[in-house]
Amino acid sequence: MPKPSTRFVCQSCGAVSARWVGRCESCGEWNTLVEEIVAPRPAAKLAAGRSGASARALSFVPLTGESAPAPRTETGIAELDRVLGGGLVPAAAILVGGDPGIGKSTLLLQAAASVARAGRRVLYVTGEESVEQVRLRALRLGLTEAPVELAAAIDLGEIAPALEKSGAALVVIDSIQTMWLEAVESAPGTVNQVRASGFELTRLAKSTGFSLVLVGHMTKDGAIAGPRVLEHMVDAVLTFEGDRGHQFRILRAVKNRFGATDEIGVFEMTDRGLAEVANPSAIFLAERRGNVAGSAVFAGIEGTRPVLLEVQALLAPGGGGAPRRAVVGWDGGRLAMLLAVLEARAGLTLAGADVYLNIAGGLRIAEPAADLAVAAAVVSAATSVPTAADMVYFGEIGLSGEVRQVAQAEARLKEAGKLGFTAATLPRRLARGARPLSAPEGLSLTGIGHVSDLVGSFRKPDGRSR
Ligand code: TYD
Ligand code: MG
Repeated sequence: MPKPSTRFVCQSCGAVSARWVGRCESCGEWNTLVEEIVAPRPAAKLAAGRSGASARALSFVPLTGESAPAPRTETGIAELDRVLGGGLVPAAAILVGGDPGIGKSTLLLQAAASVARAGRRVLYVTGEESVEQVRLRALRLGLTEAPVELAAAIDLGEIAPALEKSGAALVVIDSIQTMWLEAVESAPGTVNQVRASGFELTRLAKSTGFSLVLVGHMTKDGAIAGPRVLEHMVDAVLTFEGDRGHQFRILRAVKNRFGATDEIGVFEMTDRGLAEVANPSAIFLAERRGNVAGSAVFAGIEGTRPVLLEVQALLAPGGGGAPRRAVVGWDGGRLAMLLAVLEARAGLTLAGADVYLNIAGGLRIAEPAADLAVAAAVVSAATSVPTAADMVYFGEIGLSGEVRQVAQAEARLKEAGKLGFTAATLPRRLARGARPLSAPEGLSLTGIGHVSDLVGSFRKPDGRSR
């Protein structure tokens, strides 16, 4: 029998190395390599299987055929159901990632209770907390009478048989980093254990038919470390984000075999758990103060839903040397590009100023359509002229300073109208396109073709920009 060998596995990205190195050559993280034992593999059974009694011929089928849409179990939490693409799918595995303390256990206990109250069997396995701790949370959330069945366990040898014959509709494993398979010779939480227990649990979900939710902790750099090795294995990956200073939490689908991936769910952490936020725009704009230079409202689209957000820019005199660019909630590279375009194509002088950009409310935006709002906030900060308080902005900006069209203009305008905005600045080709835009009544449209028009609109009445 070959003797067990060891290898080194990066706990951040799962890369394997034959020797120990201080810095992972694959993801560049420091001190993430951990030695793991590779169990000797039994000789390949492939050839034997082919002639064995259990051999089954593989049959191929045409691409067309009857297949019913996946049946769904609604969790009863609308924001969660929407991100899932309409509810839980039986036999599907979902990974829910997020920073420790962000509210994953809270959300899943609420979802579990809601599904159980609808008369389905729900099992909640906690490997991190004791039964008492989960009961305390349930008490705080007012869920004690929901018929969720709870167990504190980490050993899959004990958990798997219980799940197999349970007939449960939903199984929550909180968290996958605490699960332990005896056959794998490494500690819970290591890539090997996470991968093996994740595989075992998803296999069980497929064969038994329950919806499986795996909770996974995520590291600072935004990637689900450890559990990241599960991403290809599960049917959906949801991340729960937000910072603890804000009460908002955003649930986002980053992978979904049964729905769209750009959908978000918005929640608010209250003292009685997570409350759904049905109208995020109103909340994100709630603390906006009118008539302040450096602020602009972006009419964005998150998934299928329009969301209005405040973009804030602050310019401070640079201390010589390379100016600072600090960004929260947007892409730093994109800001650098926009600043260069504003300087080169519209003659805005930043004179080496430090630029700080923030998306208020803690949301992260990725849409290029935010360019125009960011530019407006920066120009407003640079000229000390506030944007009109009732104006929203959207449009993409190209390298030559042209303002380009973006999708779903009408949905953006409609949301702006709903929230009482009366003006919108948007790409000229949308405002004066061949097909007239249907804008809500009372909303005036200003079409902009080039960033120099934007900078021009911030000039003070005396004609000087500062
Ligand atoms: P938790 O769900 O335990 O986070 P995770 O499972 O992602 O680690 O939530 C932890 C935080 O949420 C904790 O700091 C307290 C806060 N919280 C509330 O504000 N209200 C509540 O009703 C609950 C249950 C928790
Ligand atoms: Mg937890």
